[in-house]
Amino acid sequence: MLTNLQQQPADALLALIKLHNADPRPDKIDLGVGVYRTGQGETPVFGAIKAAERKLVEEQDSKAYLGPEGDMGFVEALMPYVFGKDSPDMGGRIEGMQAPGGTGSLRLALALARRANVKRIIVGVPSWPNHAQICADLGLEVVEFNHARADGTVDMDALRAALAGAGAEDAILLHGCCHNPTGIDYSPGDWDEIAGLVSEAKILPIIDLAYQGLGMGMDEDAYGLRRVLVAVPEALVCYSCDKNFGLYRDRVGAFYVMAAEPADLPRIMSNAHALARANWSQPPDHGAAAVRLVLEDETLTAQWLDELDQMRERMRQVRARLAAAGKAGTVDLAPMGGQNGLFSIVPLSKEQVLEMREKHGIYMAGSGRINIAGLTAGNIDKFIAAVAAVAA
Ligand code: LMR
Repeated sequence: MLTNLQQQPADALLALIKLHNADPRPDKIDLGVGVYRTGQGETPVFGAIKAAERKLVEEQDSKAYLGPEGDMGFVEALMPYVFGKDSPDMGGRIEGMQAPGGTGSLRLALALARRANVKRIIVGVPSWPNHAQICADLGLEVVEFNHARADGTVDMDALRAALAGAGAEDAILLHGCCHNPTGIDYSPGDWDEIAGLVSEAKILPIIDLAYQGLGMGMDEDAYGLRRVLVAVPEALVCYSCDKNFGLYRDRVGAFYVMAAEPADLPRIMSNAHALARANWSQPPDHGAAAVRLVLEDETLTAQWLDELDQMRERMRQVRARLAAAGKAGTVDLAPMGGQNGLFSIVPLSKEQVLEMREKHGIYMAGSGRINIAGLTAGNIDKFIAAVAAVAA
């Protein structure tokens, strides 16, 4: 039976981790997978998380099962940050559950949408490759529109056309902030328009918020999500704490449903719980419990927000340095100064990306995506020179 299985290629992005690790060159640069790094090239555990973990070890008195929804204290503590302090549950219309990372949350959202009879997912491209993989695995058709123009601005015309052509069995998947892979985000004015367009199209919005706080700020990065939610009756929100709490391998995510009426929530969530039970039964506890302990403690919350501010500030400095370099060969690095989050695309061909790796020891995704946080004062000049050399 198992001989029926076809060989699958390794995930191209995750394969870069191993390729980079195996490279003996001391001045190699890892700009592959999206992991924040300090100016010293490290990915330390947040101080606030370390303190919460110590508390957890001391105080946790059981590791008995919690249920498919996971740690509801964690899920609810996040809500004011995601949906705003004024009405974090939109008058009883929002309920959530824990999920294994942003990917688990997306899997849940897309599977729930399919159960609700959604057949097609409208997605701006390029997008995070796993979006299309999850859709394909669930038998959902992906309808693509162009996310950004060559000049580094969002392609609102393409989005308008995609929404104008949307039908009753469609949903739209939107990146809430820090667009992965382009770093090109919608402005508040764009979001105002998008909220109206999604409402007119009468389709289900699925908002992927995986980088809150890494773009412009916690509230600023949630502007689009909040704007869409006040305009539509129903929405699904996929949240990741992997980046903004630095919990990557602990797989900490949350999934939220906004229903048209509070009375609809038990029925909808019963489906989400059943899907979770059939997929992973219950999410891993440790990271989410640590986040809950941070958010329950004012001092730890302030420390976490301060650490997040420092990360954002460092990435702004890297972006400013790239923008100041202007042209590197034929590549214009200037637009990166105004982009957001961990990622930007360097417009290089597949061959040029390979040359960056083989000749210069610089690892980046095949799409030309770079992890901005992989650049430091010690390697950024080498990176700019290498781009100029391959794109001469
Ligand atoms: C990325 O895009 O690099 C991150 O979201 C990590 C991942 O799982 O792909």
